[in-house]
Amino acid sequence: MLRRLKESGHDVTVVPTASALEFVGAPTWAALSGKAVASDVWSSVHEVPHVRIGQEADLVLVAPATADLMAKAAHGLADDLLTNTLLTARCPVVFVPAMHTEMWEHPATQANVAVLRTRGALVMEPAEGRLTGKDTGKGRLPEPLEIFELAQDVLSRGTVSSDLAGRHVVVSAGGTREFLDPVRFLGNRSSGRQGIALAQAALARGAEVTLVAANVALPQPAGAHVVEVTTTEELRVAVLKAAAGADAVVMAAAPADFRPVHSETAKIKKAPDGSAPAIELVQNPDILKQLAAERLQPGQVVVGFAAETGDTTGSVLDLARAKLARKGCDLLVVNDVSGGAVFGSTDNEAVILGADGSETPVPRGAKSQIAHAIWDQVVPRLA
Ligand code: CTP
Repeated sequence: MLRRLKESGHDVTVVPTASALEFVGAPTWAALSGKAVASDVWSSVHEVPHVRIGQEADLVLVAPATADLMAKAAHGLADDLLTNTLLTARCPVVFVPAMHTEMWEHPATQANVAVLRTRGALVMEPAEGRLTGKDTGKGRLPEPLEIFELAQDVLSRGTVSSDLAGRHVVVSAGGTREFLDPVRFLGNRSSGRQGIALAQAALARGAEVTLVAANVALPQPAGAHVVEVTTTEELRVAVLKAAAGADAVVMAAAPADFRPVHSETAKIKKAPDGSAPAIELVQNPDILKQLAAERLQPGQVVVGFAAETGDTTGSVLDLARAKLARKGCDLLVVNDVSGGAVFGSTDNEAVILGADGSETPVPRGAKSQIAHAIWDQVVPRLA
């Protein structure tokens, strides 16, 4: 994380606790950060570091955050440089908990996390997976890249928002596959990046997130309930199930519009005469349209995506307006794909159309910025 932050141009001061130095020594932090490192308040006292570091910071990132550190922070204790820094900082503060499942689930830890969140800190949900011992469970430190992206996100927004706290949102991501036989499928190039960015942004804003992921090869966002699916029908069933009880559903996935009428149980063989088999297709159900028509929870906000090129019948936005009406959703995120690829790229630009006639352009930027722009439109429409 230190390397990533430094390489992206940030000035990073490392403030380890005495316990942290049992894992990685001060010389390592000093060499990598290019700055002196202290964990107590008695070094370089003439520079008043216990006040200055917090006051000058744009972000305080506590990673990993132990149960002990969060308990101290929740109660305002200040017995070392880090806890002093937390009391003097007026910038956004992000805690990234890492501990054993029992410690994370303990009511004391949960109460401390709730206090920190109430005071405006962003406490990331831990990842699930292998812990320090032989055990696995919730409490693992999320991947450094995910923490770094969250930090970048908070820095660029300059604030921590919790406007989705208490809300349950469903996001679909990736591209579905329709099998011709056990080894071949019809699929598409959707990577799932935009859906993952939407899930991460919603988690950062306090939501409970269900991510329905269709063939996504990217790491799962820490704290999301992930349901993995393959085909459009599986996606439909999983999204509808999660949508009952959700405040918002964002269909960022690219479901295959067609599936073969027959999926062979054995591999299709080449014909000796060189002929190719004809594949008969049938249309898949439109999940977005069904969600918009059924509204499984009163006041639920339904969001769709559209990749348009414009044609002789209309411009990109004309076609998108017509699609918004046809699908019956509340918001439609429109990507103009005439110029080239959106698939798999980390950058994107879009226009968000509202059923109420609103039109919000989102300038070219990281998919996380588009994700936040989408939630910015969803939040005021929530019941
Ligand atoms: N979608 C869906 N179910 C499908 C196909 C698409 O829910 N079977 C959703 C996508 O997740 C996305 C939006 O609908 O939010 C994209 O619509 P698009 O595929 O462009 O719609 P089509 O109706 O296929 O558009 P077109 O008529 O332009 O092919």
